[in-house]
Amino acid sequence: MTGGGTGIGRAVAAALVKQGLDVVITGRREDMLVAAAAEIGARAVVFDAADPAQVHAAAAELPERVDVLVNNAGGNVARRRPAPEGLADVRELWLANFEANVLTAVLVTTALQPRLADDARVVTIGSIAARRGSGSYGAAKAAIEAWTADLAFALGGRGITVNVVSPGVTEETEFFGGTLSEDRRRKLVGNPANGRTGTPADVAAVVIFLTSPEAGHVTGQVIGVNGGAGLGR
Ligand SMILES: NC(=O)c1ccc[n+]([C@@H]2O[C@H](COP(=O)([O-])OP(=O)(O)OC[C@H]3O[C@@H](n4cnc5c(N)ncnc54)[C@H](OP(=O)(O)O)[C@@H]3O)[C@@H](O)[C@H]2O)c1
Repeated sequence: MTGGGTGIGRAVAAALVKQGLDVVITGRREDMLVAAAAEIGARAVVFDAADPAQVHAAAAELPERVDVLVNNAGGNVARRRPAPEGLADVRELWLANFEANVLTAVLVTTALQPRLADDARVVTIGSIAARRGSGSYGAAKAAIEAWTADLAFALGGRGITVNVVSPGVTEETEFFGGTLSEDRRRKLVGNPANGRTGTPADVAAVVIFLTSPEAGHVTGQVIGVNGGAGLGR
């Protein structure tokens, strides 16, 4: 479970612990990660999932057999930077979002692929932004969908499923860098059918379904969790 110390990842990790799994959560901030692991009953392994050398080194501390892999680490790095001013800045931002959202998933999955059990489950957290826009962030999340389709075929013969869970606006996370004002929330949420933003628990419930033995015929899919803000058809 990458990025399991906060927000959506923490909720998914806690839900997987409740299912009786031995759960490892990962992230870059050691103190926060270790505290979260203690609270939810998981084990913490600290590394930057976008750095090949760190992923390689951390593999020794990761489980030898993997039944469930949730690639959750990511976020829109543009939210933490000034708007790009020149082409060099644009390039830097696009690469940073690609690293944060695509390479985190691809590197960890590639490192752990030989350890995936038959009938294992791989779930990557995408975003409604993949179909909506959001520049380099949405483009990176769209790349996750293409990669997932490929992996579903590569691993399907062993009963392994590979899916994307694609949240809409989800609060109680660090994604927006603080609490949302009412005005900002209204703009972001748009017009969902159920009139509300999502919670990490909403996303975790869908991940738990996809990781269940009963979900073995669901693979290569992008499942939206957005209250109807994006229609899946
Ligand atoms: N919240 C939303 O509205 C929303 C909507 C659609 C999709 N998503 C996606 O949901 C996922 C989870 O985000 P969240 O909303 O729960 O926000 P969050 O609270 O910021 O969680 C992101 C987590 O990922 C970890 N992380 C980020 N980059 C990492 C890296 N290179 N290596 C290891 N860990 C890394 C962070 O920990 P460290 O900083 O300690 O590494 C953090 O715990 C992300 O992929 C995000 O793009 C969120």
